[in-house]
Order: sequence, then C-alpha cells, then structure tokens
Amino acid sequence: MGTVTRRALITGVVALTALGAGSARVVDPFTLGVASGDPTPDGVVLWTRLAPYPLAENGLGGMPSRVVEVSWELARDERFRHVVRRGRQWARPESGFSVHVEVGGLEPGREYFYRFATGGHLSRTGRTRTTPAPGTMTTPLTMAFASCAQYEHGYFTAYRRLAEDEPDLVLHLGDYQYEYRKGVHVAPNGNVREVDGPETVTLADYRHRYAQYKSDADLQAAHAAAPWAVVWDDHDVADNWAGSHYSKPEIPQPDFPARRAAAAQAYYENMPIRSKPRGFDLRLYRRVGWGGLTTFHMLDTRQYRDDQPCGDGIKPCPERLEPTRTMLGAEQERWLLDGFRTSSARWDVLGQQVFFSQYDHTPGPVQETNLDAWDGYAADRDRVVAGFSSVRNAVVLTGDVHAAWGAEVKERWDDPASRTAGTEIAGTSITSGGDGSEVYPETPEWFAENPHIKYFNNRRGYVRTRFSPDEVRVDFRGLDHVSRPGAPVSTKASFVIEDRVPGLNPV
Ligand SMILES: [Fe+2]
Repeated sequence: MGTVTRRALITGVVALTALGAGSARVVDPFTLGVASGDPTPDGVVLWTRLAPYPLAENGLGGMPSRVVEVSWELARDERFRHVVRRGRQWARPESGFSVHVEVGGLEPGREYFYRFATGGHLSRTGRTRTTPAPGTMTTPLTMAFASCAQYEHGYFTAYRRLAEDEPDLVLHLGDYQYEYRKGVHVAPNGNVREVDGPETVTLADYRHRYAQYKSDADLQAAHAAAPWAVVWDDHDVADNWAGSHYSKPEIPQPDFPARRAAAAQAYYENMPIRSKPRGFDLRLYRRVGWGGLTTFHMLDTRQYRDDQPCGDGIKPCPERLEPTRTMLGAEQERWLLDGFRTSSARWDVLGQQVFFSQYDHTPGPVQETNLDAWDGYAADRDRVVAGFSSVRNAVVLTGDVHAAWGAEVKERWDDPASRTAGTEIAGTSITSGGDGSEVYPETPEWFAENPHIKYFNNRRGYVRTRFSPDEVRVDFRGLDHVSRPGAPVSTKASFVIEDRVPGLNPV
C-alpha cells in the first residue's frame, strides 16, 4: 500500500461523517490511549476506547448512545509513510465504545505502528510487534512484566519507566485496577490520590473505574510502547474471589455471578485481548509463543479454583494438602500439562497471578502459609511441578504479592537438598503498598525458614527480562517512591537463569 498521510486518514473519516455517520465532535474521544496485545507471528489485536469525558458516571465516557465509526491504520514506520493495513470498525454502546481490531497477514518478528481516527480526531500512535516465526531463535526477547496498580497508593511512574525500557512484550499479571471505593484501601504511607465512584459492582462501575485508570498518562505510555499479554487477578473483579465464591462479611454479595459477569465484560472492553466473555465466563488462559525461544502459558488462577481452604488467610491448615483441591480447574490443568508435553520451546514460562513457591510465614515446625496462594492448593502445584519434567526450562512469573521475590521451585519443598525443578520470579507492584522499603527487619528470618527463597525487595516497580537461547537475565527494577511523581528507576538486583540449570545466579 502506498504512502498515506495523517490528513488522508482524518479526511477519510470526515468524508464518512458527512455521509451521515454523525457530526464531528469537538472534544477528543481518544482520552484513554491506545493499546495492542496478544501478538502472533502474523497479527496482533489493536485496541482503543472512545471516551471524551472519561469520568462520566454511567461508564460510557460521555458518548452518545449510538454506534460510531472508527478508522485505523497500521504502518511499518512511525510516520505512517508505509501503511500496510487499514480499516474501519464500529464502536458500539454495548461494548463500552471499545474497539478491538484483529489484524492479520503481517510479517513475523517485525515492529509496526498504529493509530485510530474518528470525527476529525486522531489518536496517539502506538508501537507494536509481531512474534518471530515459529521455531526461530535468532533474536533475543526483552519482556517486562508488571502487576498490582492501586491508583490511590501512588503514581504510575513504574509504567512510564517500563515504557522507557522499550520492551518487545509486556505481561500484565493482574490487579490492573482495584475495586474499592475511595479511601477504604489505604497504603501504609497514606493514599496520594482518589478514585471516583463507588466500589465496583455493576458494569457501569467497572467501566467508569477503568476509564479513570486509563486516563493516566504513564499507563498510556506503557500500552503504547509494546504489545501486552494480560491476565486478571482478584481485584480486577473483587478481593480474593475464587471461582463462583466470594464472601466478605462487610459487603453483602447478593449476586456475585452478576458482578463477575460485569467485571468480565468490562475487562474485555478495556484490554487488547481476543477472547470475549460469555456471560459469567471469560477464557483468559492461552499461549503466546515467541518463536522457538519462549512459550508463555498465560494462566487464570481465579476463575476455576476451589474456594480457599480454612476460610482463607495466613494460618496453619491441613486441608490445603487435600489431593482433590484445584487451582487451575481440570480443563486448564490438562491444557497446561498437554502444552508442556508438546512444547519444543527453549523456555516455557507461566504468566500467572499468585505466589507459587511454598512460603512458611512463621519460624519452627508449624507451617503458616497464605491459603489464597498456591500453598492453599498444594496438590495441584505438585502436578504442575511434575509437568516441568517434560520441558527444557520452566520459569514461573508471579504477580499479586506487592514485592519482588526470586525463588527456586523445589520438587520437595521441605527438603532443601531435593532437585530444583524451575525458577520463580515474582514482580513487585506498580503502586500497591505505597513507597515501601528495601526489606523488612524480619526478612532474614523468612530466608532462614524458606531456604529456596533467594531474593526479596519491597520497592515498587516491575521486572525486566531478557530471553536468549543460553540464559534469561532478570533485572528487578525498583523506584524509591511512588507517593510523588517522577521517581527514577534503578536495577535493585540482577540474576541469570542458565539453560538447563533452574535457579537464580546473582549477577
Ligand atoms: Fe494486588
């Protein structure tokens, strides 16, 4: 396709507008930015959502209740001189005026740029890329992962710093947003900004909350920098939900299935994903392949799990060991283990939510573990670890815990001499928990009680990884504060995982 100028894209829309699709609006509808996601060797999903007034309480961003046509284009260069695909799509009220374009027919392993236009307005430009051709391993992969961005707990500077690292791919492991109404979920050093609206329960509430989050310029920069592969965790719906279970004595849940369906619909509308919800269900477990180098198995550890044992919490609980308990659900577990068996990737990576390694919170023989994490579903974890034996290298990536951790995944947790089967890297939070600290006074005791845990840091940030055939380099990136904007980022620690040698080697 030949050269297409910025004016041509806008002119096309204006011409269309004149034909009756609606009158040009004065207010910019692209206040929520752009995003791309779920890349394949020949395609990617492009996303935007129209919202001239993002904080409109009905969640519809100030849009009129009719369909609006949006045009898009994707080019090989940032100046859109070499446009390779373009098209038009309807933004519909029933989809919250979101637009998901599934572009195909692209070249593998290539960078592209994209943008949208409607009503005489042009969106910002996003950068994305396709994955390398299946089997190829020639180019290293820079992947950054993040989780847990409580809007009130801090500024999203870590998203800005992540964008500045120019990763090829971003994984988001959940708690992209939090459900609380303003002021009830307070960081240790206090909240620094406020969310709008009530605790999110209805579709309008969730849309409204996403719109506020997505108005954040740092978050928009991170989306515009690279394609994302996202999975949700608890707060994207409600604190520590488990399958169809949710109980909070202080907040009655007369109809949790309806709430979960509303959250699923809003999640779809606000994320660059292919999967659409069917009522209550949103299939998020899927694979993202990166040539022959890396296969990301993106997991959903919320939707199919059994309820937390012993009423949840951190406490001794023999019930957590029951062999029938499931975190993944039978179908997802089978899908994962089949994926391990058929994988020929150099690195098989789990993109998942909750802490994977055993973590005993108290010294001595009694085990107090977090029953919301894999410790509450120990038999299912054993089945996953057994599955690691059919892949060359297993790496587990984790969100949820609001601190950076590195751990060796042991075949038998209580025997430090047992074989290391894989490596876990838990990213810290973007903001959740506020400014934080480097470590806690009691951190040395945790290491002593859990010798397979090798690293801990309690600053906010993200993790930058570099995958190559011989090793994965892991940089724990941290900010000294999030209570004020603009913090610089530094690498708090670096480790290398060597091919065929699970575990963390300090750099
Ligand atoms: Fe979180």
